[in-house]
Amino acid sequence: MQRTRFLGTGFAVPDRVVTNDELSRLMDTTDEWIRTRTGIRERRWVVEGETGTELGERATRRALDMAGMEAGELDAIVYATSSPDHFAPGNGVYLQRLLGIPTIPALDIRAQCSGFIYALSVADAWIRSGQYRRILVVGSEIQSTGLEVSSAGRHVAVIFADGAGAVVLGPGEPDHGGILAFDLHSEGAHAEKLWVDSPGSMYHPRVSPKHMETGRQYLEMDGREVFRHAVVRMPESVRSVLAATGHAVENISLLLAHQANLRISEVMQKDLGLRDDQVYNNIMFYGNTTAATIPIALDECVRNGRLKRGDLLVMTAFGSGFMWGSAAVRW
Ligand code: COA
Repeated sequence: MQRTRFLGTGFAVPDRVVTNDELSRLMDTTDEWIRTRTGIRERRWVVEGETGTELGERATRRALDMAGMEAGELDAIVYATSSPDHFAPGNGVYLQRLLGIPTIPALDIRAQCSGFIYALSVADAWIRSGQYRRILVVGSEIQSTGLEVSSAGRHVAVIFADGAGAVVLGPGEPDHGGILAFDLHSEGAHAEKLWVDSPGSMYHPRVSPKHMETGRQYLEMDGREVFRHAVVRMPESVRSVLAATGHAVENISLLLAHQANLRISEVMQKDLGLRDDQVYNNIMFYGNTTAATIPIALDECVRNGRLKRGDLLVMTAFGSGFMWGSAAVRW
């Protein structure tokens, strides 16, 4: 049986840098509060006119370059986003159009912060079954347009941001490494603890002035509950995916955790007993970009030499749903 290998990685973020000081002029917050509670120093937000699929396209072109491939050689697109350009169709088809690829399948995955892990698992199954050979997996988000940028929304607005990451996957021989295992979970009992209520097809109409008066179009979060579950679920999932591969935590070369909040990552690192050189965090510069955080960090680690061929890579995520999961890879 063949294994799924990573042929190329890439990322793109908007040019506009939004510092904590800039936010403290827009709402009742401080650089000190944001840094201490979340680790974030600055993030990227789009300017009007920039779209998630455009960021996805820029990330894709970098990943294709690294893979030495043309867009036309792709057989399928799996696109993870919780903030699509439109309610329908999904971002996958808009990206397909931007890339100029005629009729390959393009599927959107809605698994929020865990979107990239879920998307990888779908692409991996397609590749291992032989259904498609070269698959583009993208995680991109525009969260800034769904934030309440005022004191009322400060507990959420200071955390979330925009960006995109992409990987090109293809089949390879098992002794050359590749994706080893997945661990995937969800628990809908907590659906409303991190969610966007409206627009929703259960409402007539889907979005109304009444919704907007009460801010139901904004991302809403019970931060304490998210924190409490995340610090348990991510280490649990890391242990579980490692168990499926026969490896122990000390064998991890690099852990790329969803960049939800630096404090969450620190609690998890301590729980797993990992050294600083076994983890990578970049939330300081990008904030929480939901499905894009892992592929952005992955591309940085590939290009800056933190990740080398033969390394044992574990990626783990937790977020809205609640949904969480991990992937183990022999790089
Ligand atoms: N600036 C200043 N004060 C803020 C603030 C901000 N941006 N946001 C909230 N506060 C205030 C609160 O209003 C509260 O004030 P009060 O004590 O007067 O009521 C105080 O800070 C503490 O709020 P609390 O919500 O208890 O803080 P916390 O220590 O739980 O930190 C989070 C808040 C959001 C940073 C924290 O809960 C967290 O990190 N949660 C996980 C979030 C996450 O990772 N989400 C993404 C998952 S994918």
